[in-house]
Amino acid sequence: MRFRETAALAACVLLFAIVPPRAQPQAPSPERHVQQQRLWETLQKLGEFGKNPEGGVSRVGFTEEDLAGRAYVIGLMKEAGLDVRTDPAGNIFGHRAGTEALPPILFGSHIDSVPHGGNFDGDVGSLGAVEVIRALNDKNQKTRHPLEVVVWTNEEGGRFYAGLFGSTAAAGLLPADIASRRDDNGQLLADWLKRMGGDASRLPEARIAKGAYAGYLELHIEQGGTLETAEIPIGVVQGIVGISVRTCTAAGFANHAGTTPMNQRKDALAAASRAVLAVREEVRREPGRQVGTVGWMRVEPGAANVIPGRVQFPVELRDLDKERINRIAARILARFEIIAREENVEIVCTPPDLHEPAITSPAFRDAIRGAAASAGLKTTDLPSGAGHDAQNVARFAAMGMIFVPSKGGISHSPLEFTPPDQVANGAEVLYRTIMILDAALDAAARP
Ligand code: GLV
Ligand code: MN
Ligand code: MN
Repeated sequence: MRFRETAALAACVLLFAIVPPRAQPQAPSPERHVQQQRLWETLQKLGEFGKNPEGGVSRVGFTEEDLAGRAYVIGLMKEAGLDVRTDPAGNIFGHRAGTEALPPILFGSHIDSVPHGGNFDGDVGSLGAVEVIRALNDKNQKTRHPLEVVVWTNEEGGRFYAGLFGSTAAAGLLPADIASRRDDNGQLLADWLKRMGGDASRLPEARIAKGAYAGYLELHIEQGGTLETAEIPIGVVQGIVGISVRTCTAAGFANHAGTTPMNQRKDALAAASRAVLAVREEVRREPGRQVGTVGWMRVEPGAANVIPGRVQFPVELRDLDKERINRIAARILARFEIIAREENVEIVCTPPDLHEPAITSPAFRDAIRGAAASAGLKTTDLPSGAGHDAQNVARFAAMGMIFVPSKGGISHSPLEFTPPDQVANGAEVLYRTIMILDAALDAAARP
């Protein structure tokens, strides 16, 4: 049985039969396969690359810090016996052979961070994946499927693209202009890709075909407070929000702040400020879990005695329902037109970089629940308000996500924290889920 789209229904029926929902045959066994201390030490070490004085890291994608962190993780993957390659998008894959000619089971995350981010977002899933391989090696445990650890390129985005860069390439969804994009300092994406072992001229070759992998799993911190509040160690992710990001520019007229009367101004910052509030109002206008954020603003020329002539700002919208995102975006853009007229400026927004929402595979959710139950760990189902590479992988493979608690629900902050035992719980559930899927997937291919 393969998780091809055409066979999806049959696959689910069969997998449900093999992996019964909720109830698992094994009695809970507290014995851990993964090593908590070994995993924690690699997390600490990775935290040295881009370390900030206030704690946490700035290891933004396509920077020297990112390159150094990647080199460290590639070293770990090689030490664990993985056959490592980098695709044209800079995604790092480490392959471990299986005993049967089957598509590999893929698992991993990212190691780039937001500016002034923490040591756990992405790192837990990437190093948890490496720890699973080490744990399998410890016992000389073979799997039917080959296993592949992946570290996706530039998950957080900000420079060149709206995030999930590597997995968007794998889904074949990068915009056509991507290779020629420059960051604010004029640096070319193509040059950075080269330094990371990628190749901008071959980006389409990073696309992964449906059926190339048996499935994908990503371990991640929750980045919210649901698990901690409920005192539940493992979250089973139901779905991942869609994310739309536009960059908008308010263009007015820079003029003398002392001599230009108040009724004759074209103040781009006053207009942009009203736009920020309009985003909040339109997002709040309907019930639901949708969110909208204006995360930065660039004001030119930026002097106390000059009326701002030009302001740039992003509009980021998220929800599990793409239609809702589109509906709210349309209302926001209509509000911007009114504000522009009233403020006597122009407001123009780029088309959005859009990451589609994705629902996790019900069969994989069951496998995760079964794995957690076998390790004596409670679970709850929850949605992900953060974006993840898994949502792009959903375009070419069945996928599931495992969450572990985030202290205080804090993330994208140096205060991000998950204690060592909870990180190890997640890696253990990842290990056991892989073993369940390894037995259940492609069962028809057994000799
Ligand atoms: C990724 O961390 C995101 O949700 O922005
Ligand atoms: Mn993040
Ligand atoms: Mn992340």
